[in-house]
Amino acid sequence: MKTPLAKVCITGGCGFIGSHLVDACVARGIEVTVIDNLSSGKVEYITGHVRSGNVQFIKGSILDPYLAKTALASVDTVFHLAANPDARRGIEDPSVDLELEVVTTFQVLEMMRRQAGPRRIIFASSGTVYGDVGGLEVNEDFGPCQPISPYGAGKLAAEAFISAYAGSFGISGIVCRFGNVVGERATHGALFDFANRLKENLSVLPILGDGSQAKPYIYVRDIVDGLLFVAERADAQFDVFNMAPQGASTVEFLARVLLRELGLTDTMIETGNTPYGWIGDIPQSRMSGQKLAKLGWSPSYTSDQAVEVGVKAFAEDLKLTEPFRTLLRECRAGIDEADRERTSISSTVFVAAASGRRFPEDPEVLALGMERGDGRGAMRMVSRSIRGAVIGAGLIGRQRSHSFISVGDTCLKYVCDPERAAGIKLANEVAALQGQPCEWVQDYEALLTRDIDLAFVAVPHNIAAEIVMRLLENRINVLMEKPMGINVEEAQAIASIARDSKATLAVGFNYRHYPAIARAKQLVQQGVIGNVIYVRMILGHGGRPGYEKEWKLSRAKCGGGVLFDPGVHLVDLGRFFLGELEPVQAHIATLHWSVDVEDIAVAIARNHQGAEFHLHTSLIEWENHFFVGIFGDGGYIKINGRMGNYGVQELVYGKKWAWLENGSQRERNVVEVFGNEDTSFSQETKLVVEAIRNGRPVPENHEDGLRATELVDQLYRMATVKP
Ligand SMILES: NC(=O)c1ccc[n+]([C@@H]2O[C@H](COP(=O)([O-])OP(=O)(O)OC[C@H]3O[C@@H](n4cnc5c(N)ncnc54)[C@H](O)[C@@H]3O)[C@@H](O)[C@H]2O)c1
Repeated sequence: MKTPLAKVCITGGCGFIGSHLVDACVARGIEVTVIDNLSSGKVEYITGHVRSGNVQFIKGSILDPYLAKTALASVDTVFHLAANPDARRGIEDPSVDLELEVVTTFQVLEMMRRQAGPRRIIFASSGTVYGDVGGLEVNEDFGPCQPISPYGAGKLAAEAFISAYAGSFGISGIVCRFGNVVGERATHGALFDFANRLKENLSVLPILGDGSQAKPYIYVRDIVDGLLFVAERADAQFDVFNMAPQGASTVEFLARVLLRELGLTDTMIETGNTPYGWIGDIPQSRMSGQKLAKLGWSPSYTSDQAVEVGVKAFAEDLKLTEPFRTLLRECRAGIDEADRERTSISSTVFVAAASGRRFPEDPEVLALGMERGDGRGAMRMVSRSIRGAVIGAGLIGRQRSHSFISVGDTCLKYVCDPERAAGIKLANEVAALQGQPCEWVQDYEALLTRDIDLAFVAVPHNIAAEIVMRLLENRINVLMEKPMGINVEEAQAIASIARDSKATLAVGFNYRHYPAIARAKQLVQQGVIGNVIYVRMILGHGGRPGYEKEWKLSRAKCGGGVLFDPGVHLVDLGRFFLGELEPVQAHIATLHWSVDVEDIAVAIARNHQGAEFHLHTSLIEWENHFFVGIFGDGGYIKINGRMGNYGVQELVYGKKWAWLENGSQRERNVVEVFGNEDTSFSQETKLVVEAIRNGRPVPENHEDGLRATELVDQLYRMATVKP
């Protein structure tokens, strides 16, 4: 009997196999939700479908319960493909396979058990579960299965959980044990490795093992066809199917076909001397496809044919990518080895040149490059790590410290805070994380003569301006947290020094760097919602007991109430979406807290095209709340949540009146969920560090800081105030 598929979820749907499965489902008119954290997959593979409204895409991990629930809601079948697909990774760190094969599957099953998800799971397993059984052709009844890699063990454990959930909780589970899958969009595996090796060197292709390892290969579109077949035809509560052709192809054959398809007939193949490629690799694998054949499905190609077809498709794609295109062109033009080497490392040269640093005697200079051995003069390529300081060891200072050291090629040299205990605590934490010393200094003046590339200033508003100006005068690049000074006069003074300084000032408007905000900007630029008519933002802070005693609610220390902070963030976001804004109207009031600043504010501004910006911010929300709505003449984008205790960030966009055509809420929207981990600081820090390293403009500078402060100031001046 055939079970028609109506709505499916594909975990890992941006991956190699998953994205082909998405194509096939869309072609059959099946509604698809994809959840993928893009750890190895690429969203480009499915973007066309998302844009045309055929696929709902959720970016994030299936391990996030909220996202998993959202992705699995109201679908009838889940194709569970999200995993670590690379068996070699687990040899270095077996916990990867525990988490990404077993726990991901457990998560899906738990959602199903709690009735929050579908009743049917089709699972992407692998022939590696059988272990090393020599050249024996295994069928699904073979046992005991004794995998020899953590990857195989993870797949087998996941299968066992599916079987148990089928037995105990009445779900339906179909396990598909794949052979080796080949074809276009491969994200890992032998073919992918070969391509990477060739990018380094076109004259020799080293292959792991002696080349005689042989596995059954299956073309990716055959696998997809097989998956859809079992989803529609397999009717047991639990069942297992091999999906592989008879016979096997050697890895050397795979390499030869790739070289032939790329036209690299002179490239030598260099083999090792072990019968296996790496520890955990099964040297000989044969799988019987008889069980599925009896049900009515077999792959359309033999193993060797699948290699021919799959490698050809893979090579066609590869030839179009950089640096392959250049390499092949150069190769054809007979350019020698030394010049090819130069091509592949030229980006390092530019980094070094742009950093403009002296390197030879500096012990911290990292020599990344190499000597040119082509007789045209030695060129040494260097880049040095960026040295940082954090001033202010509070919450944000700590965030910036962590983000900075995780950028890579960075070293946080100093933490400055007048509070000894807080300063030393953060300095020690940083030192342990980066494996290099980090010194606490009490007074920022001590930093002015030190060799620092970038200082982060995360101190109360009333003392920031002086510190920032002194750093800039001493040619130290700065990232200062918004607002740029406690009032418009300070902002003007800072901007004036920044304009004349040799150093750069970045202003921390991290809201621009929330993934949903960045995505919304992209959608606006792509014209998805037409011309923007108005933008509405709401930021409600929940407050907390004793909040009135904190510095943010003191006019002297903060500079204003909620219109100033967080208002300045919202005003900046308004400019981000609408361009330059002029103030129209504002109202402020102090409704609850016993403080000398407003605890609620509404304001309106307008851009030069007449589009309006509406802002509402308060400290009396009792539970944090963040909303951004962008409304165009052709559609809308709505963002809810700002991660952390503002909730998971979710973006929904849709066309104007699409519900009139489609009916249900779900069908008219595209929903993207960005998880609950606040990545805005790390993303902004990374962009600023890279800009400083490469001498490029920073994302938001002193002009942005000044304009946002001026606008808030203008709104204050015109605001009506509740008596
Ligand atoms: N390619 C093969 O030869 C082969 C053979 C046997 C089994 N398989 C299995 O088929 C499935 C798909 O493999 P593939 O070759 O397409 O690999 P792939 O890496 O291209 O696809 C896996 C996808 O899962 C995503 N992902 C990883 N962890 C995730 C998480 N926690 N939450 C959400 N998404 C996550 C990745 O970004 C990627 O898009 C995997 O389960 C793999 O083990 C593949």
